[in-house]
Amino acid sequence: MDDLKGLILSGGAGTRLRPITHTSAKQLVPVANKPVLFYGIEALVEAGVTEIGIVIAPETGDEIREAAGDGSAFGATITYITQDRPDGLAHAVLTAEDFLGSSPFVMYLGDNLLAEGITRLVSAFRDSQPDALILLTKVDDPSSYGVAELDGDRVVRLVEKPKDPPSDLALVGVYLFGPTIFEAARALEPSWRGELEITEAIDRLIESGKRVESQVVSGWWKDTGQLADMLEANRLVLEELAPRIDGEVSDDCRVESRVAVEAGAVISGSVVRGPAIIGRDARITDAFIGPYTSIGDEVEVSRSEIENSILLTGARVTDLGTRMEACLLG
Ligand code: DAU
Repeated sequence: MDDLKGLILSGGAGTRLRPITHTSAKQLVPVANKPVLFYGIEALVEAGVTEIGIVIAPETGDEIREAAGDGSAFGATITYITQDRPDGLAHAVLTAEDFLGSSPFVMYLGDNLLAEGITRLVSAFRDSQPDALILLTKVDDPSSYGVAELDGDRVVRLVEKPKDPPSDLALVGVYLFGPTIFEAARALEPSWRGELEITEAIDRLIESGKRVESQVVSGWWKDTGQLADMLEANRLVLEELAPRIDGEVSDDCRVESRVAVEAGAVISGSVVRGPAIIGRDARITDAFIGPYTSIGDEVEVSRSEIENSILLTGARVTDLGTRMEACLLG
């Protein structure tokens, strides 16, 4: 088998996290102070996939290039592929055809986070070499996702965002493909939402008798496309945080439970109740930072209370009258 390549989709319009993502890419919103996209790159590298293409949109591509660079920081080689319009996941695959060539590949949606990584999935794919291997997980609201209909263990049909879902098993945003996916993608017509749907391309593989296998995710999975999911991903990652204090915490502070304080951060007169992370050069003065909060680099918080929130680099909060909760602040 040709060696596997990686394809991360980080284009798209990203309308759902506006206004935060009006100028910046949703894949760069940090979870526990690390851009969502980086978790994907790291998961690929961990599974031994180091030749990675990242699909970018013309509007947000430069920021993504700047953040992820040539990939050397991750032990990978990154090639950027510009998709002119957000015409769908299958359109993104076709846009990347020159980069992918005849290699099998892992496609990873740049706003997805998967606790267990993808090593198990990649080795299952290498062993059985199907046309596609998809990942599924049970969800409460299947009509927001691509949904699988199963017969025993076998996937018999896939539908994108069905009004009347055939099951509660959603497609997770990590897929493995052999080169037959291109032909299936080329045969598609735009869906009701005007996109070339990868879900329909895989459904065509099934219909034409190709081998499509599936696995069910064992750990948690999050599509961070919406605020509530982003905050939940932040909570889940912070739960696993390794506590450490590299910045300065003065004696009049209380730091409880899992807390990471980055170098250059200065905390005084405050309570920090973990799980929480305080970024580089942040200033926390006479404040309460509650559980499940990520304070970005160079953030300033004084005389305010913040809980279950994400504050992006450089945000400032002073003299807030009420406790800030469940916010993403740019
Ligand atoms: O998260 C899992 C879901 O992802 C699956 O259950 C669905 O079957 C699948 O269609 C997809 O649904 P979404 O509607 O959530 O996809 P979204 O538009 O958010 O795009 C996912 C990623 O791909 C995101 O990082 C943006 C990028 N993208 C999207 C489009 C439409 C591109 O790079 N190019 C595109 O044209």
